[in-house]
Amino acid sequence: MVEVEACAINRHDLWILEGDSAVIDTSDLPFVSGLDLAGTVQNIGEDVTGVESGDRVVLCPNVTCGTCRYCREGPENLCENHSLYHGGLAEAARVQADRLVPLPDSVSTVEAAALPTAYMTAYHMLRRLETGPTDLVFIPGVTGGVGVAGVQLVASLGAHSIGTSSSQVKLDRLKSLGLDYAIKSTDPNEIEDAVTNIGSVDGVLNHLGGEYTQLGLDVLRRDGRMAVCGRTAGNKSVIDIPDLFLGHKRVIGSTMGTQRDLETLIGLVASGSLTPEIDETYSLEDTEAAFVAMQDRESVGKLVVTP
Ligand SMILES: NC(=O)c1ccc[n+]([C@@H]2O[C@H](COP(=O)([O-])OP(=O)(O)OC[C@H]3O[C@@H](n4cnc5c(N)ncnc54)[C@H](OP(=O)(O)O)[C@@H]3O)[C@@H](O)[C@H]2O)c1
Ligand SMILES: [Zn+2]
Repeated sequence: MVEVEACAINRHDLWILEGDSAVIDTSDLPFVSGLDLAGTVQNIGEDVTGVESGDRVVLCPNVTCGTCRYCREGPENLCENHSLYHGGLAEAARVQADRLVPLPDSVSTVEAAALPTAYMTAYHMLRRLETGPTDLVFIPGVTGGVGVAGVQLVASLGAHSIGTSSSQVKLDRLKSLGLDYAIKSTDPNEIEDAVTNIGSVDGVLNHLGGEYTQLGLDVLRRDGRMAVCGRTAGNKSVIDIPDLFLGHKRVIGSTMGTQRDLETLIGLVASGSLTPEIDETYSLEDTEAAFVAMQDRESVGKLVVTP
């Protein structure tokens, strides 16, 4: 049992609230949402080793079967039976002990709670894009959880980022977080022109889907890669097949990351190389306000509930 001190919310929780989750059967109630929890271990089960009461921890929300081919050979997020932990939006959460990652004293539980879904996913996508120094990475919808994480991690790799948003105010905040090029637009043609003027894109971090998938392919250089993890702008994308094969472009589906990715991110925060961007914290009673802020597209970075 973990006493929850912080639990970040994600668009995933909003999909569940809206009854539009690809993962959760929302007719099956009661249901407690919240993947990204951090806090203090209250007590442990009889057979548990490696974790003790009083330990400060963050949960890696991957739920895996432990027996399939991908669990045996890795990486774990490929598990055939992969699902996600839910139950962090609460005062206490019962979790699987071996999914707990210890926190150094220098990493707060609020910072830690920001990491699992947004930062771990963005980090894993950048690994799959094989992003390296001086690469140019295009991140449409740059102001949310995955977007901001992408910007900060791209900068930490010595690569450069281009991001889009409907809000100049939010883009201005992104500049101080390391965004190199900001495009205030939601019009794909306008965005394509602006990106093309900046340079040739090596990688696209696409969490929007919809019309942003073809836009990503349009700006991608020959042999470039696009990783896709989300569908905020639409479940379906129409793409130009000749452009894909004649340009030798690659589209890569990606979901979450590995517990090792999360450990790496905690190390980056502990060493001062990464500071997760927290827009605001909310009490458990005010969780609704956090979801309203996400729905109204008001925030930059992560929204964290602190029971
Ligand atoms: N597969 C995985 O493992 C995984 C993990 C994490 C997230 N995801 C997915 O990735 C996506 C992002 O998650 P998140 O938690 O980062 O969400 P988020 O914080 O709500 O993302 C906000 C960003 O999305 C943009 N946006 C919102 N609605 C939009 C729309 N209708 N059209 C275009 N842009 C829109 C916002 O643009 P403005 O700046 O203009 O407001 C903002 O930049 C979600 O689809 C989520 O389900 C998947
Ligand atoms: Zn498995």
